[in-house]
Amino acid sequence: MKVNRICCIGAGYVGGPTMAMIAAKCPHIHVDVVDLNAERIAAWNSDELPIYEPGLNDIVVEARGKNLFFSTDVEESIAAADLIFVSVGTPTKSYGIGAGRAADLCYIESAARMIAKNAKGPKIIVEKSTIPVRTAEAIRTILGANSDHGQFQVLSNPEFLAEGTAVEDLTEPDRILIGGERTPEGDAAVEALVSVYANWVSRDRILTTNLWSSELSKLVANAFLAQRISSINSISALCEATGADVDEVGRAIGTDSRIGPKFLKASVGFGGSCFQKDILNLVYLCEHFGLPQVSQYWHAVVQMNDWQKERFSTKIVKTLFNTVRGKKIAILGFAFKKDTNDTRESASIYVCRDLLSEGANIALYDPKVPVSTIHADLNYVGVSDEVIDRQLTICSSAEEATDQSHGLAVLTEWDEFATLDFSAIYDKMFKPAFVFDGRNVLPHDKLRELGFDVYAIGKG
Ligand code: UDX
Ligand code: ADP
Repeated sequence: MKVNRICCIGAGYVGGPTMAMIAAKCPHIHVDVVDLNAERIAAWNSDELPIYEPGLNDIVVEARGKNLFFSTDVEESIAAADLIFVSVGTPTKSYGIGAGRAADLCYIESAARMIAKNAKGPKIIVEKSTIPVRTAEAIRTILGANSDHGQFQVLSNPEFLAEGTAVEDLTEPDRILIGGERTPEGDAAVEALVSVYANWVSRDRILTTNLWSSELSKLVANAFLAQRISSINSISALCEATGADVDEVGRAIGTDSRIGPKFLKASVGFGGSCFQKDILNLVYLCEHFGLPQVSQYWHAVVQMNDWQKERFSTKIVKTLFNTVRGKKIAILGFAFKKDTNDTRESASIYVCRDLLSEGANIALYDPKVPVSTIHADLNYVGVSDEVIDRQLTICSSAEEATDQSHGLAVLTEWDEFATLDFSAIYDKMFKPAFVFDGRNVLPHDKLRELGFDVYAIGKG
């Protein structure tokens, strides 16, 4: 099987960058990225891409119009492709059975039905979206029941890219994981996809497994990463109680080569579209398969994360003499981490919600997140428009946000926050001037010298 034409259904955070990289590295392959959302497609075809990723613009511009095409022609593109990536969203279900935990597979199902309807010959279908284990079976069943030729091979090829470093992660991945059915046809389909990646990834980094191992590995990788953050965050509370310093503890344990240094940075809590969603999905799967102990074990990772966010807002309220009512608090950062405009599950949303419910006036500054997103995110967690109008001001600089404030809190580790003119900021704040560093990125000693009262995560 040779892959000449690829179609990717879903032009989101995963589909867009991944296909741009494939197109840039495989000039002989025609890549269509299709989406039902015309506005999103128009953005991919414009100078202002719908997502912000360092380096992405260059690779899109290089390939767009040559062998990379963004369109809403879902049906034609499916019909023409040899290999179809399914890269639609799989949000946590908000209703019915498994609400709040299970993945909502409605977009996967609709994509599978569209493929069945429009595929006239053999196709390789590749699950790119993160999905619960055994979703491939559901896709196969839908394809089989709705198509007259039945020549489909379903593969799992999870994406491990992290936002903000998507281009780097795609250029030099730790590994590419491809799961397929262990039959001669399945092996041939796996080899076809391997040969696409082999254009720029060395073969020893391309792992092939059975379908279920591949599907499960994606959930497990995210669960292990999130678990490390919850583990160090749990220790941050103990550091504060005992006088230890969580960064020193992190360094001390991270130099053990068995533990390793990455993902040991204590914070106000992890966010992003994947960690919480994937763990809850794992939790639900374990329950479904009659493993309540395993399910509880992983659920604790999310519970610890929720507690860490709550602990941070409580700390602010308690420090400000048990009341923030009517006080201006500057919140620096709304994205779930630096170098992205993505706010999904960002700790900042929850901290803002809690402070607003305590009556605080929030002055919020984030260098990349649009005002409409901030409003929508707060609405989603139950903050009314009335409260937003009365108590929230979106600022265009950190200086504006901190002017005449009682406290400032860093919720995202944007580089620019570490080098602000703190002396000028101090002069314009009410005294005592409180700083709450939820990311441990500010120069704490210098701030104390200037007169600030500093609280930092995990610093006893
Ligand atoms: C994650 C995985 O890293 C990626 O492999 C997967 O494909 C998708 O989910 P992403 O959500 O983009 O990627 O961000 P990541 O860099 O992993 O950070 C997730 C959250 O953890 C962020 O809120 C970040 O600030 C936080 N974090 C990360 C910490 O609090 N401490 C750390 O040490 C590392
Ligand atoms: P991810 O972060 O996994 O990439 P996103 O939500 O950013 O997820 O993107 C998924 C995209 O898939 C959305 O732009 C959505 O419009 C698109 N989509 C969902 N279902 C279909 C479908 N059946 N056909 C085409 N596009 C779809």
